[in-house]
Amino acid sequence: ALRKSIIAKTAKQNHKFEYHLQPRASAFKVAILGAAGGIGQPLALLIKMSPLVSALHLYDIANVKGVAADLSHCNTPSEVLDFTGPAELAKSLNGVDVVVIPAGVPRKPGMTRDDLFNINANIVRTLVEAVADNCPDAFIHIISNPVNSTVPIAAEVLKQKGVYNPKKLFGVTTLDVVRANTFVAQKKNLKLIDVDVPVVGGHAGITILPLLSKTKPSVSFTDEEVEELTVRIQNAGTEVVEAKAGAGSATLSMAYAAARFVESSLRALDGDSDVYECSFVQSDLTEVPFFASRVKLGRKGVEAIISADLQGLTEYEAKALEAMKPELKASIDKGVAFAQKQM
Ligand code: NAD
Ligand code: LMR
Repeated sequence: ALRKSIIAKTAKQNHKFEYHLQPRASAFKVAILGAAGGIGQPLALLIKMSPLVSALHLYDIANVKGVAADLSHCNTPSEVLDFTGPAELAKSLNGVDVVVIPAGVPRKPGMTRDDLFNINANIVRTLVEAVADNCPDAFIHIISNPVNSTVPIAAEVLKQKGVYNPKKLFGVTTLDVVRANTFVAQKKNLKLIDVDVPVVGGHAGITILPLLSKTKPSVSFTDEEVEELTVRIQNAGTEVVEAKAGAGSATLSMAYAAARFVESSLRALDGDSDVYECSFVQSDLTEVPFFASRVKLGRKGVEAIISADLQGLTEYEAKALEAMKPELKASIDKGVAFAQKQM
């Protein structure tokens, strides 16, 4: 009787996850570069649960064999392959549809994201060179900080290799949206699932600009609430860095956010015509050449950059938008100059 009840329970449990156990007609290959890290591991787990994925390629300079062995025991459809070190980098990118890059060092208390530039710029450059050589058609998701500079670096590397497609290069800013949605829902007692706040600009300090006036469902904020929420969203990364007290920055919420962006990209690749996400992309929405905003995703990448969010801003938002531009532009220029110096 006990055995019967255990079998019944297991069947029920599997049924609950049935969605994840059924492979879909179209399935995609996803690579994570930096897969053994704080973000890489939980991100790999979340992507392993996607019914849209047939193969998950895990690349890192060390410790990736164990992560892959562990993950491969989950009874979800995708195959897990591990690749260690530069000699296996090219193979890890073979036939890949989406490449996610969380490789690099994280912040410690007292540091800005720009303090990571010297180490992470080189890591991103090397990895994107390999992407250009091995899967130039893939969607590229850059997580490594400082995103405001690493995305322009990636663009320059792809240009140097003659394969730059601005519609397929994304700085991952989904965590800013995830945080904005959470904090607004908490503050205004809203159902989490309903709340959507566009976050525009970039991914550091004042360049992170939540457009609270565009929150869905429509909700009104006092001036104090706007100030408090905006500052909290802008400093949320630092909140985590300080709480971790030297042990790194956001990893779990970042993995959750990156998995959402990967799933949205795969749905777009699969032909879903209703996929919108905020992302830091090449953009002509403002005079700054890369800018985060809502974009419509399709099979070919960015199908449209949504300009409506920047219309009818409040005075607070309009001022904040102008105030961020010099910093955002300087971070972009720094990335471009770095990449051009390497030529
Ligand atoms: P981590 O140190 O835990 O992991 C980084 C991983 O990258 C390690 O496993 C390391 O071996 C690997 N790595 C280093 N050099 C590499 C190379 N040349 N090739 C491949 N892999 C390499 O760090 P983490 O907490 O996972 O953070 C990673 C990066 O993500 C940091 O730069 C961090 O600032 C950034 N981050 C961005 C966001 C965002 O919203 N975009 C959020 C959180 C963290
Ligand atoms: C974040 O926003 O959590 C990341 O950019 C990591 C950091 O350094 O804050």
